[in-house]
Amino acid sequence: MADIFEKCFDFTAVEEVKNKGVYPYFHALESRQDVEVMMEGKRRIMLGSNNYLGLTTHPEVIEAGLKALEQYGSGCSGSRFLNGTLDMHIQLEKELAEFLRKDEVVTFSTGFQSNLGIISAIVGRHDYVICDRENHASIYDGCKLSFGKMLRYKHADMEDLEKALQSVPESAGILIITDGVFSMGGDIANLPEIVRLARQYGARVMVDDAHGLGVIGEGGRGTASYFGLEDEVDIYMGTFSKSLASLGGYMAASERVANYVRHNSRPFIFSASITPASCATALAALKVLREHPELPENLRAISARARKGLIDRGVKIRMSDTPIIPIYTYDPDSTLIRAKQVYEAGVYVNPVLPPATAPTECLLRTSYMANLTEALVDEAVEIIADVLATPIAL
Ligand SMILES: Cc1ncc(COP(=O)(O)O)c(C=O)c1O
Repeated sequence: MADIFEKCFDFTAVEEVKNKGVYPYFHALESRQDVEVMMEGKRRIMLGSNNYLGLTTHPEVIEAGLKALEQYGSGCSGSRFLNGTLDMHIQLEKELAEFLRKDEVVTFSTGFQSNLGIISAIVGRHDYVICDRENHASIYDGCKLSFGKMLRYKHADMEDLEKALQSVPESAGILIITDGVFSMGGDIANLPEIVRLARQYGARVMVDDAHGLGVIGEGGRGTASYFGLEDEVDIYMGTFSKSLASLGGYMAASERVANYVRHNSRPFIFSASITPASCATALAALKVLREHPELPENLRAISARARKGLIDRGVKIRMSDTPIIPIYTYDPDSTLIRAKQVYEAGVYVNPVLPPATAPTECLLRTSYMANLTEALVDEAVEIIADVLATPIAL
């Protein structure tokens, strides 16, 4: 009989990377998630957070979390379906639906769980789900959890999407799913063409706007708003863990679709609801975003400054028009070494390694926050450019 743990005993890749002194994961923060953090005893400029609007430290957001803890306690200890619904969950769903101009919102405990819960409920046995190859892992896992058939098209390749659509039998329902802003590359999906093809082939469209909400579109309303296609996207999925500075996720859709998911989604029904503090902080962050539509503009300006600074200093970046600016380091070994060097020089960035990317297209993913000062951005750009200009001693 084979030992089911054999794979664990044989898994030595981590030790190999640790022995080389370049293991990049689980660096512990000793301070708030902010533009500058204390990490392992040293100040670092944070260019690895998805706290795009910088709201994790906003006084109103923190105050709301504290109050909710006092009023509702530490947890809900149950599913939204049964004992775990707070009046505040309903308020969050209502306010977010109004902001996104959709009939209804359904909240889930995380963004990852939202994708599992939405896709597995909507894509049935005889349906097809068609994904951009660079879609987030949670979308893939949602597809796997569904009983439908998954097709993938080459990243941002609309001809390949059309081929996939043509291969689907007439009788099948189709859901096309794309990230709005791609999480690793920072590029924006070609929604006008996706929507056009969807109409032509009778498909529905779902956009994962984890990195679009608070970032692009009118007042930070996301990718569909950015293209003026709010009525053409059937399902928005998003998360509270990025611009809204909290934890949890959501689906925004028509009343009929929301009603169906609410009563058929196992990750929604069989999991505890968002904690009071997380719910209150997401609500407070949404209020700050509504009252300060200039925040996404600030974010855009600070990201543009970083992009220009990196290009001027000869750093090879993947072009984007968002606060996600990936820097090419190509192979995994160089990426690990560069991430470590940049970290030691005082900037935290995220290495992007296989399977998140192809082995020849590894990156250092930098991401920016609206409350970064110009001085901090310039300092970080200087550090990164200096490190990358030094040859690697292998
Ligand atoms: C595109 C995308 N979708 C979904 C998720 C999952 O969100 P959460 O971290 O809130 O579970 C993420 C987070 O990394 C993401 O980048």
